[in-house]
Amino acid sequence: MGELRMIDSKLIDTHGRAHRDMRVSLTDRCSLRCTYCMPADFAQWIPSAELLTTDELMTVLRVSIEEGIDEVRLTGGEPLLRPDAVDVVHRINALPKPPRVSITTNGLRLAAQAGALRDAGLERVNVSLDTLDRDRFKAMTHRDRFDDVIAGLAAAKAVGLAPVKVNTVLMPGVNDDESVTMLRRALDEGWRLRFIEQMPLDAGGIWNRASMVTAERILDDLSQAFDLTPVPVRGSAPAEEFFVDGGPETVGIIASVTRPFCGNCDRMRLTADGQLRNCLFARDELDLRAVLRDETLDEASIEAEIRRRLHVSVEAKLPGHGIDDPSFIQPPRPMSAIGG
Ligand code: 5AD
Ligand code: SF4
Repeated sequence: MGELRMIDSKLIDTHGRAHRDMRVSLTDRCSLRCTYCMPADFAQWIPSAELLTTDELMTVLRVSIEEGIDEVRLTGGEPLLRPDAVDVVHRINALPKPPRVSITTNGLRLAAQAGALRDAGLERVNVSLDTLDRDRFKAMTHRDRFDDVIAGLAAAKAVGLAPVKVNTVLMPGVNDDESVTMLRRALDEGWRLRFIEQMPLDAGGIWNRASMVTAERILDDLSQAFDLTPVPVRGSAPAEEFFVDGGPETVGIIASVTRPFCGNCDRMRLTADGQLRNCLFARDELDLRAVLRDETLDEASIEAEIRRRLHVSVEAKLPGHGIDDPSFIQPPRPMSAIGG
């Protein structure tokens, strides 16, 4: 659900959008191989030497906060595969004017790390879970780790990381019969469920506009079992929220393809190798790592150049992603290397 915040971002683009949310990929590695994200035999990992160090990341975030970023979401690949993920959260919270910090995770390491993450200042978690069936989970992720995700979700709740959001992508003929059972389970467990339309970022070319499971289809299916009424406020949050059977519980739909929300976008993205992207679907990136590692620059010049590049990136942002346009071209990196 959207909420009102003071607009003091300096990162305003040519379409009037103020940018406050930085999605930071901590690693492109992942412990799953969700078919809509990565080919099962994917092997083009970013070399370790190219990943931003935590010191470098803090420099980028310090400048970004000065320019108005007040929310940081840690993503991957699987962000908790970064060995110092807890320390990253801790250090972000120790920056001047610390932003709110959340994480989007596949949940596999949450059972072990939820408490430490909360203690480090993590505000909340989004856990990806596409099915409630163990065999399907294995087929959809190429790993037999369903129970670990469920344990991770329970741990997140137990340590008070609230709300626990669950992201579900429905794929035609695979798990598109699970919307109602997913929502029932979410209501039982106290998860805040959001369905995300599958986007063309799969690196394996399995996305198909004609057969994709649309928001309209999901709402139709859910309406057979629940009474859904729209929650009025939306703000910059991509999810359209609906009260379930009068509320207060809600279900969200992120209709990136069929009802794009680019007009309210307040996000920027930083890849694990230090490339700044103004959109998930951007075809261009700005290199911050090269600036951070430029030995001819002193610290003040590095910060000034990062600040300048943040503005250049925002100013070049296009009004929308055009996924639904026939001329749309997929970005060259898979989702796991961009950060979800
Ligand atoms: N379309 C929609 N969602 C995707 N995710 C990963 N790849 C895609 C895609 N092609 C989701 C993951 C996770 C979040 C980061 O993005 O399931 O919940
Ligand atoms: Fe890993 Fe997330 Fe991609 Fe699944 S969607 S393979 S959990 S990065």
